[in-house]
Amino acid sequence: MSSDILKNLNPGITDLYPYEPGRSVDEVIDEFDLDEVVKLASNENPLGASPKALSVLKELKNDLHLYPDGNGTKLKKEIASHENVAIDNIIIGNGSNEILELAARAFLNSNTSSIASKHAFAVYKIVTQSAGASLIEIPTSNWSHDLGLFINHIEQSTKVIFIANPNNPTGTYNSHHEVHTLLKKVPSSVLVVLDCAYFEYVTKADYVRPIDLLSEFDNLLITKSFSKIHGLASIRVGYGIANPSLIEVLNRIRQPFNVNAIAQAMASIAINDKEHIEQSIKLNSQQYEFLFNKLSKLGLECIPSVGNFITFRGDFVGKELFYGLMEKGVIVRPLDLYDMKDFIRVTIGIKDENLKFLSAIEELL
Ligand SMILES: Cc1ncc(COP(=O)(O)O)c(C=O)c1O
Repeated sequence: MSSDILKNLNPGITDLYPYEPGRSVDEVIDEFDLDEVVKLASNENPLGASPKALSVLKELKNDLHLYPDGNGTKLKKEIASHENVAIDNIIIGNGSNEILELAARAFLNSNTSSIASKHAFAVYKIVTQSAGASLIEIPTSNWSHDLGLFINHIEQSTKVIFIANPNNPTGTYNSHHEVHTLLKKVPSSVLVVLDCAYFEYVTKADYVRPIDLLSEFDNLLITKSFSKIHGLASIRVGYGIANPSLIEVLNRIRQPFNVNAIAQAMASIAINDKEHIEQSIKLNSQQYEFLFNKLSKLGLECIPSVGNFITFRGDFVGKELFYGLMEKGVIVRPLDLYDMKDFIRVTIGIKDENLKFLSAIEELL
C-alpha cells in the first residue's frame, strides 16, 4: 500500500500511539500456556459488577431490535438524584472517556492547547492531539498535580484543562481547596475538566466536593465512570456533569445512541446499589493497607494512593517485571506510556489475588 495517504494525516496524530489497554486474561492464558491468570491491570472492581445490576441480563426483554433511549432519560434521572443535580446538568457517555473526547472536540482545534499534569491519564493527550491541539504538560510535585503551577502555564491558546482527581496512574489526589483555588484563577472561558473516575474510593476528608463547585463555575465539567466502583467496565458507561448550556453543546456533537440499552439499564441499577458500593470501598481500604505494607516491606517505593491501585518502583525495569509476573499468571501494568519506565501499577484485588501477586513478585525480586 502506498504511504501517500499518511501524508494527509492530521498533524497531532503523527506522534500518537494507540492506547495500550491491560492484557486480557484469555490472551495471557493462551500466550503463556497457563491454567489460571489473575488480572490486576486495569483498575477494575475485583468484586465484579453490582449483583443487582446483573439482574438486567437475566430479565432481558425481547426488544433489542429497538434503538435505545437516545436521551438516556431513566439513567439520567437516577444520576441526577444520586448527584443531587438536575437532569439537564447531565450527559451520558460510552465510558467517561467519551465525555473527555466530546470536551476536546467541542473546544480544541489546531490553534489551541490543553493543559494536564505530566504522568496524568493518557487519554488527555490522545483526545487533545486528535482534535489537532497540543498538550502542555505540567511537572508534578511528589507525583501529584501541582495545581498552583497550572496557572503559570495557561497560554492565550489554552482552552481546556484536564485534572484527574484521583490521578491514574499515580493514585494521588487534590483537595477541595486546591481545586477551588485553581478554578478561581482560571479564566472563565477555559474549560476545566475534573475527571473523578475513582471518586467513590477516596476516603480523605479534604478531597474535592465537585458538585459544590458547580454553581460557582460555569466552566467546570465533572466526569465520573461506571467502570470502577460499579464494576461495569465492560459495558462502557460514564457521565459528565456541568451547567446546562455546556451540556447542550456536548450533546450537539454526541452520537445519537452512544450508550446502549443494556448499559443504560444496568447503570441505572448499579448507581443505587449501596451495598455493593460500600463492600467495594471496604475491601479496597483493607487490601490497600495490606498490599501497601507488604510491598513496602519488600523494599519497594510505593506512591501513596487514594484509588484502587498502587504504583511502585524498586530495583527493576517495569517492562521486565511485567513480563516476569505475566509468566507467573499475574497481569499488572507497566507504565512506559506515562514516562515511568521504572514503575509498575497494580490494581488492588481480593485477598487471594493480592497474595498470588505478592508471592510472584517475591520470587522475581
Ligand atoms: C483517570 C481516568 N479517567 C477516565 C477513565 C476512563 O474510564 P471509562 O471510560 O471506562 O469510564 C479511566 C480509566 O481507567 C481513568 O483511569
